[in-house]
Amino acid sequence: MSIDAQQYRVQAEPYYQPQGREVALFEAAYRNRLPVMVKGPTGCGKSRFVEHMAWRLGKPLITVACNEDMTASDLVGRYLLEGGGTRWLDGPLTTAARIGAICYLDEIVEARQDTTVVIHPLTDHRRTLPLDKKGELIQAHPDFQLVISYNPGYQSLMKDLKQSTKQRFTAFDFDYPEAGLETTILCKESGLDAETAAKLVKIGHAARNLKGHGLDEGISTRLMVYAAQLIRDGVDAGDACRMALVRPITDDADIRQTLDHAIDVTFA
Ligand SMILES: Nc1ncnc2c1ncn2[C@@H]1O[C@H](COP(=O)(O)OP(=O)(O)OP(=O)(O)O)[C@@H](O)[C@H]1O
Ligand SMILES: [Mg+2]
Repeated sequence: MSIDAQQYRVQAEPYYQPQGREVALFEAAYRNRLPVMVKGPTGCGKSRFVEHMAWRLGKPLITVACNEDMTASDLVGRYLLEGGGTRWLDGPLTTAARIGAICYLDEIVEARQDTTVVIHPLTDHRRTLPLDKKGELIQAHPDFQLVISYNPGYQSLMKDLKQSTKQRFTAFDFDYPEAGLETTILCKESGLDAETAAKLVKIGHAARNLKGHGLDEGISTRLMVYAAQLIRDGVDAGDACRMALVRPITDDADIRQTLDHAIDVTFA
């Protein structure tokens, strides 16, 4: 592995609790260098899964958080003014294609469509990336793979991926884990005991049932891990739950009251 590639290596195993056959299926996608899309709500383990897979496959990982101000140059690269002249600087996508990394474009729908299309030639049989401004056509390294994440929850009709983009990817549907697995995740991530973790999961699942009835999104596994860490650190369970599970997700007084009540009952 080159020095560049070494720098993006995932050093220690990121803990990942599988929910189904996704590990073997991702490996199969990787063997065939198929692009992968990971769909699911916020904080359900998408990024952790990709980090785990990069580690498992022993490939460097380059992650890019996409946003609406992002331009194609932010991905591909640009000329910088330096001294009297200019110097080309590769963007993260170009670096990944050169060194043979897994390139993870997080929240790809946030990016504008003219940005999204730069990935097209990399995601079909061509596996190329044209650097228009530089007049160079890169042939992707054999190890290169593109992975994108996508949260179907907050998409408006205006902000969706084009079919011509979607249909370049294989896809995984992620969701919050069932209670037993989520309890295991909380214990492993925080060191909290299983009995208390199970109570947090119970509250979280009750809140998820309110989705669509006043709540836009359920409580994520990420927030439950926060609550578990606070309790593990000695914070009162009720305070931890209000702070990590309820206050972040809603300002609606009725829903807060409903959830606070569920917390008081669970930890009474
Ligand atoms: N299957 C899992 N195995 C291990 N940890 C998990 C798993 N699912 C969720 N987690 C925990 O939840 C946290 C959030 O997960 P992650 O960052 O992967 O979410 P995400 O789906 O990428 O969310 P976002 O869309 O907001 O980026 C992780 O840091 C980890 O603590
Ligand atoms: Mg993520």
